[in-house]
Formats: sequence, C-alpha cells, structure tokens
Amino acid sequence: MSQPVAIVTGAGSGIGLAVATHLVSKNYRVVIADLNPTTGEAAASSLGPSATFIQSDVSSYNSQARLFKQAYEWGGNRLDFFHANAGVDDRQMLYDPAEKVEVDEEGLVKPLNTKTMQVNLEAVIQGLWLFKYYVSQSKEAGGGKGKFVATSSAAGLYAMTQNPQYTASKYGIVGLVRAAGPVLVKENITVNAICPAFIPTNLPPPEILAAWPKEHITPMSTAIKAIDAFLDDDTMTGQTVELSQENIYFRKQLDYVNESQRWVGEDSQSIWNAGYAKVPEKKGY
Ligand SMILES: NC(=O)c1ccc[n+]([C@@H]2O[C@H](COP(=O)([O-])OP(=O)(O)OC[C@H]3O[C@@H](n4cnc5c(N)ncnc54)[C@H](O)[C@@H]3O)[C@@H](O)[C@H]2O)c1
Repeated sequence: MSQPVAIVTGAGSGIGLAVATHLVSKNYRVVIADLNPTTGEAAASSLGPSATFIQSDVSSYNSQARLFKQAYEWGGNRLDFFHANAGVDDRQMLYDPAEKVEVDEEGLVKPLNTKTMQVNLEAVIQGLWLFKYYVSQSKEAGGGKGKFVATSSAAGLYAMTQNPQYTASKYGIVGLVRAAGPVLVKENITVNAICPAFIPTNLPPPEILAAWPKEHITPMSTAIKAIDAFLDDDTMTGQTVELSQENIYFRKQLDYVNESQRWVGEDSQSIWNAGYAKVPEKKGY
C-alpha cells in the first residue's frame, strides 16, 4: 500500500513547517505549500525525498485548485491529510482615520483591503471543498479517509482588538469546523481546528517577539500534541482545540442560555433537514 499524503499550507515557516516535519516522521509524504518560494524550497529540501514544494497563493482559488491537483498526482493519486494553516495578520486597518481613506473618481470610498479574510478564511473553506473531492478520489490508491485541520487562533475564541479582520477570520474557522465536522465525518473526513496562543514564529513583528515574556510562550510541541490527538483518533471531529503553554484544551461551544435555545440548536434538526431538502438548486445569487 502507498504512503499517506498530506498538504500543509504556509509550511515554509513556523507552525506549518513544524507540522510538515512531524508528518514526515509519521511516514507521510508531504507537500509544502507556500507563497514564498525561498522558504518553501528550503523547507522541502530539509525534509528530504518525502517532501516536495509547490508554490501556491491560497487566496487565489485557481492557485489552490492547481496545488491540490499537483499534490494528488505527486502522491500517487491519493490525499489523506490537509492542514489549512497559511495565515496573515490585517493588511489594512479597519480603524484608519478618514484622512487615510481613499475615494475613487466617482466619489465612492475604496474598499478595505480584506486579504486577511481571503487567506485566513475563504481559502480554508475552498480548501475543505477541494480536499473532500480528492479524498473521495483516493480509494484506489489505498486512501479514502481524510483528516482536515485548520489553524484558527486564540483570537478565534477571544478577541484581538489590534487585528479585527484576523479575529473575524479565526472565529469563522471555529464556526466552520463546528458546523461541518459532525456532517463530514459521515463521509470519512474529520474536520478540526487548533487555536494557538502565542507561539514564536515569523508572523508577529520582531519587536513583539523581543518584548514577549517567556512565561506566556506556547511551545511548538503543544501544536504537535494537538495534531497527534487528531491523527490518533479517526472519529474525533468538529473539535476546536485551544493551545496554551504545555496544554491542549478541547473547547466546547457556548452553553445554551435556556431550554428554548437548546431545542433550536439540537432538537429542531428534522425541521431544518426537511425544509432544506425541498429547496430547489441554489438560486443564482
Ligand atoms: N504564531 C502564533 O502565535 C499564532 C497564534 C495563533 C494562530 N496562528 C496562526 O498560525 C498559522 C501559521 O502562522 P505562523 O505563526 O506559523 O506564521 P509564519 O509567518 O511563520 O508562517 C505563515 C506562512 O504562511 C505563508 N503564507 C502567507 N500567505 C500565504 C498565501 N496567500 N498562500 C500561501 N502561503 C501563504 C507565509 O509565506 C508563511 O510561510 C497562521 O494561520 C496564523 O494565523 C499563529
């Protein structure tokens, strides 16, 4: 039987590189996907023949779709694990004062740069869409079961006022995982997320890294602990795992405020299912 195959996005650096390295040690063949060809190539060559680099900008659907096709073919027509990990902080500040806001020739306010949402959330949803397809095409080569992990953040459970888009994107991942996880496990795909606190990587500006107190650092080994929890259990799905210091915490959704909300959240499923079953093919908007 062929080896299992993984794609890790943003694997040229930081958490992605650590997870890719771990997966190689677990007998995976790993595609290092990153926007940056210098770090991406270096990461792949440091891991030897079990890894390869494919340059990809996950914020472009076509680029990510090409990544999946190439990775699947490189892996011998199988794909087993996808870590949607690439992420960026806010590219333009929502709080910018009026003097910094640009207006076009028509007098319309130019849109806020929402690259963060495209990389951190839209690409993750499209990545799950693509992964689901390729897992279903992997049976002949010995696959057919998939594990999807996304990198959310502690900012997806609390809030990071300095980066409002980043916070929104990371909350989005938590919602995606909680909604899709229990459904897709029936198609042999588990869907989980890690929510790291502060892990020293190339993401924050160097001044922040230098000023950060050691006692509030979460080591990379804690991220690997969570990945191992997902790897070791084929039924674990819909989980958002908070990483803080040496520990991993399985975080539940908020408690229902009353019995009615519990009914709406849980017991109303048959009404929703019957209603959506009758909705014709989605309208064109
Ligand atoms: N480091 C932390 O403290 C921390 C905490 C919580 C969440 N996270 C999340 O962890 C993930 C990994 O970040 P990291 O800390 O390892 O940072 P990092 O900057 O070291 O790595 C991120 C990688 O993503 C790549 N990347 C950026 N945009 C891309 C795109 N459009 N397409 C493909 N690759 C792209 C970068 O080139 C880089 O190699 C991110 O989603 C980040 O939001 C990090």
